[in-house]
Amino acid sequence: MAHLKHRHAALGRGACESRTRCIVARAAATFDPANVVKGIFKSSNGAPAAHGADVAKRVISDESKYVLHTYARAPVVISHGKGAKMWDVEGKEYIDMAAGIAVNALGHSDAQWFAALAEQAQQLAHTSNLYHTQPQVELAKRLVENSFADKAFFCNTGTEANEGAIKFARKWARVQAGVDPYDANAVAPYELVSFTSCFHGRTMGALALTYKEQYKTPFYPMMPGHRLAEYNNLDSAAAVIEKGKTAAVFVEPVQGEGGITPSKLAFLKGLRELCDEAGALLVFDEVQCGLGRTGKLWGHQLYGVEPDMMTLAKPLAGGLPIGAVLLKQHVADVMNPGDHGSTFAGNPLVCHVACTVFDIIQNPTFLTSVEQKGHRLREGLKRTMGNNPHVKEVRGVGLLVGVQLDMMAGPVVDAARDMGVLAITAGKGDVIRLVPPLVVTDAEIDKCCEVLGTAISKVAP
Ligand SMILES: Cc1ncc(COP(=O)(O)O)c(C=O)c1O
Repeated sequence: MAHLKHRHAALGRGACESRTRCIVARAAATFDPANVVKGIFKSSNGAPAAHGADVAKRVISDESKYVLHTYARAPVVISHGKGAKMWDVEGKEYIDMAAGIAVNALGHSDAQWFAALAEQAQQLAHTSNLYHTQPQVELAKRLVENSFADKAFFCNTGTEANEGAIKFARKWARVQAGVDPYDANAVAPYELVSFTSCFHGRTMGALALTYKEQYKTPFYPMMPGHRLAEYNNLDSAAAVIEKGKTAAVFVEPVQGEGGITPSKLAFLKGLRELCDEAGALLVFDEVQCGLGRTGKLWGHQLYGVEPDMMTLAKPLAGGLPIGAVLLKQHVADVMNPGDHGSTFAGNPLVCHVACTVFDIIQNPTFLTSVEQKGHRLREGLKRTMGNNPHVKEVRGVGLLVGVQLDMMAGPVVDAARDMGVLAITAGKGDVIRLVPPLVVTDAEIDKCCEVLGTAISKVAP
């Protein structure tokens, strides 16, 4: 909470001067999510809360009636969490190895996260980007001073971060080509390259880059100018990265959704060279692998290759919606006021919480612990699952771990959930993906390994 104290001092408020502030600090120190949840399912007339099973039934049936069916949800109604544990409304306990798809980096109901949220919420939540606010600048400063970048742009999700990077790349290429970027008839490089098995999001620009055809076909036509190359194959990349045509190359240093596949060192290094030769930008999508998940602050630090832009999102505000694009100055220089924007982006509430999350994660001791826990998880999975004939490989870096099967992973994930471990799938549905909160404990990791070992031997002995 160093930066909270710092902010108080900077604002001349001294140490916690208002009574409300002290109450918030005390509440954070004694916060127990179980106490909160006790109040959630009370009926409006004050009668005793419905039984958990009835609540679950009602929520699932109302969801089917009122919520658009774009997700095949697991039949579980989660009510609260603490650290890497979550509980459903029936009181069943789970180890959360999914972390809201690699989002809840500090786990659930972290006391410092909650204190930052409460402190900012009672001061200022949103202003739009028409005015300056201190938390947005504080966060940008942290991101820039701890990365390759010179500027930060804020948005709200991972797909929006990629959408922003696409626009920045397209305009950069027009400026580089020496044309007036506001001339509708101007011709300049505009092609964007991405790779097999990549995932960059589901809005129309990011979707065009995303690999899986089934995500795209129902919404044809796609944004023009996309070129696909084979992941980890430099010859294939060289065939589509062309001077005068390519504006940017998008790549995940470690593919997440595609199956937890790290890039090869020669591939990322080669991409950097190909982009430099072609006068194109190299964009790293670190929405899933960035901010500590690999045991490095940024995934690309595993490789020593720097991009021109990097997109971030999932863990940055520990569960609040946020996205960001980090840019080198030469890219930032082409953008003018009015070229891009978002109403909610970078609001003080989200940014203040993100500062707290960043300060905790960037600590070298914290990052080392992620690396060690990742090692423990992979070794544990090899021990408990490695002898099963359907397990082909346990792979990944840090706490971004995948178990490659020669069958669909869904039934194993379902069996593990019944036994109290929440995991997700990736790849072609044949990978068990484990992306727990970065604060998961050794005991929770060991239990997860035991449960997954039992789950696979039950489903596919
Ligand atoms: C690498 C990568 N990029 C982009 C996205 C899209 O992020 P969001 O779902 O926040 O739009 C994801 C989401 O899984 C991702 O893993």
